[in-house]
Amino acid sequence: MTDVLILGGTGWLSGRVARAWTDAGAAVTCLARGGRAAPDGARLVVADRDEPDAYAAVADQDWDAVVDVSSNPAHVQAAVGALAPRAAHWTYVSSVSAYARADAPGQDETAELLPPTAQGDESDYGRDKVAAENAVRAGLGDRAAVVRPGLIVGPGDPTDRFGYWVSRFALAGPGPVLVPETDGHHAQVVDVDDVAEFVIRVGADRWSGTANAVGGVGTLAGLLEVAREVGGHSGAVVTASDGFLIDHDVAYWAGPRSLPLWLPADMPGFMRHRNEVFRFAGGSLRPLRDTLERTLADERSRGLDRMRRAGLTRSDELELLSELGASSSTQR
Ligand SMILES: NC(=O)c1ccc[n+]([C@@H]2O[C@H](COP(=O)([O-])OP(=O)(O)OC[C@H]3O[C@@H](n4cnc5c(N)ncnc54)[C@H](OP(=O)(O)O)[C@@H]3O)[C@@H](O)[C@H]2O)c1
Repeated sequence: MTDVLILGGTGWLSGRVARAWTDAGAAVTCLARGGRAAPDGARLVVADRDEPDAYAAVADQDWDAVVDVSSNPAHVQAAVGALAPRAAHWTYVSSVSAYARADAPGQDETAELLPPTAQGDESDYGRDKVAAENAVRAGLGDRAAVVRPGLIVGPGDPTDRFGYWVSRFALAGPGPVLVPETDGHHAQVVDVDDVAEFVIRVGADRWSGTANAVGGVGTLAGLLEVAREVGGHSGAVVTASDGFLIDHDVAYWAGPRSLPLWLPADMPGFMRHRNEVFRFAGGSLRPLRDTLERTLADERSRGLDRMRRAGLTRSDELELLSELGASSSTQR
């Protein structure tokens, strides 16, 4: 039987990776702090990676595949130090945030990276990912796969970003929905289960290399249109200018009082990475509509009008719509 160790396995993506590996018949061990459950069929080893002996309970056996999702370079370095000699293959989940430039469309895996954080540096997500990637490559050599996802979307997303749109269109029904200007804005997402399947594919194949795990490049307008169809929205779509949104303290991208996936104009490369390596290494991508349908089912079960980590509350949105008025907006 294939023995797989997931460093994590109780989070969103790592939980789905653990489940995909158990579904594939592997014996899966997850290592996490124990506040959340591992998927059915997986064994949970409770350990805190801040502690020096964190890997003691899993270091005395061989692993066919190890998967790590940590963004803490010290955790990643310590895990490599403790476990690399017994690991036949290691997959590290990094991010496209590792790239130095967000303004250059069409970057592949050879594009310039941020400088890695060094010991004592303040934590920085993208630079931490580069430091962690380096630790994995140094310790594992050609037994390492580095997977760099773009925006991960789909059911269970704890960030509430992508789900905002399909959920808001469904909630609004015949009522109006506020959207940002979409001219020149792109959208590139990848389904959480496509990333999970890719992670187990590269582990099963013992594939070595670095791959962006990103979907095809589409337009933000196209994504919103499919989200609207899936959400069954029949009301007006009201476009607010960037200036109006900024003046009204609406944030880009994510978080409270934001319009998710809306990006500043100086980041035209962030949602336009290349994915040929992913495809060549066996990655597959489900249609956007499928992802949106599964996301909407999940959004309905969590409550369309719940407090969200990202987006506008419906009442804030209606206030902005009323202030905006039909005269200064575009409706369709
Ligand atoms: N969301 C996106 O759009 C996006 C885009 C690009 C890349 N990514 C990357 O995708 C990955 C997402 O993975 P995920 O969803 O599984 O992340 P997650 O929800 O943050 O899970 C992290 C895992 O590590 C465990 N963990 C955290 N601190 C620990 C500690 N001190 N000791 C032991 N275990 C600890 C957590 O378990 P406990 O909390 O139970 O201990 C959990 O199982 C990350 O690498 C992220 O950087 C995400």
